[in-house]
Amino acid sequence: MAEQFKQENQFKPENNVLLSANSLYKSFGGIKAVNNAKIEVKNRSITGLIGPNGAGKTTLFNLLCNFIKPDQGEVIFDGEPIHQLNSHQIAQQGLIRTFQVARVLSRLSVLENMLLATQKQTGENFFNVWFKRKDFKLEEKKNKIRAMSILESVGLIEKAYDYAGALSGGQRKLLEMARTLMTNPKLILLDEPAAGVNPALIDEICEHIKNWNQGKIFDDIQDWNQDEKDENYGITFLIIEHNMDVIMSLCDHVWVLAEGTNLEDGNPEKVQSSEKVLEAYLGKNEEEERDDGDEGKVGDGK
Ligand SMILES: Nc1ncnc2c1ncn2[C@@H]1O[C@H](COP(=O)(O)OP(=O)(O)OP(=O)(O)O)[C@@H](O)[C@H]1O
Ligand SMILES: [Mg+2]
Repeated sequence: MAEQFKQENQFKPENNVLLSANSLYKSFGGIKAVNNAKIEVKNRSITGLIGPNGAGKTTLFNLLCNFIKPDQGEVIFDGEPIHQLNSHQIAQQGLIRTFQVARVLSRLSVLENMLLATQKQTGENFFNVWFKRKDFKLEEKKNKIRAMSILESVGLIEKAYDYAGALSGGQRKLLEMARTLMTNPKLILLDEPAAGVNPALIDEICEHIKNWNQGKIFDDIQDWNQDEKDENYGITFLIIEHNMDVIMSLCDHVWVLAEGTNLEDGNPEKVQSSEKVLEAYLGKNEEEERDDGDEGKVGDGK
């Protein structure tokens, strides 16, 4: 029986591919933001998603976690179709994302932001609050220990009781990333983790990503039993980033989108030296320069 299960499991897609999406389409009015895109993320990989401004990267993220409904296409996560689930159910399956502009609650403390992320708390249910107070208190205590361990490992422990609104832009990004670890993620989607972050903190963020990918952070969490450590061992990442140094230093595989469609994919070296990719970026820059000249505006407005 065990042998049969092992054999069946070897051929299940999740042994290699944790997330795959095919023939995804999404239009906003006349704009084809995602136009027949596909993507694949291997288990335990750090995968990159790059492309010029407006290529459809964030829209693709939104489709992968069903923040917006695709016009067409399917998304398979851990061997199951997820495009019918809502984004909360998807998060419970272990697929978590961060946002291009970090979404932290400024008027709550850093620690409270961490605790808000916890799922399946005993206390979520009114009945449990009254009749399982002991379990509720225990779970609350466990969550707090976990939150403090994670904050310590990312260097935010000193800020635990400060308002999240008092953090720098880079620290907010770090908090948003740290918060994803409260929910036992299998795959974390990071939308531009290095944007607007100072170079020293970018290096730190890259180190954290590498460590979480290799399961290292969890060795420090004293309170966890071995099952919890095993469950959290080796998180997979899909990262949107314009900073090519980050992509080159972190990623095993990179997907390139342009105008909503796949342009190229391969290892970072292949993608970086691809003529097609270079042209897509240069073409975009020329267009932007022309627009800037016409309207006298600078920047991409993000
Ligand atoms: N909610 C929306 N309503 C209308 N148009 C949208 C919406 N979201 C995205 N778009 C458009 O879809 C296209 C793709 O946008 P998207 O934000 O996915 O690009 P991106 O690759 O993430 O760009 P950037 O690198 O600048 O973040 C753009 O033309 C954008 O203006
Ligand atoms: Mg974007």
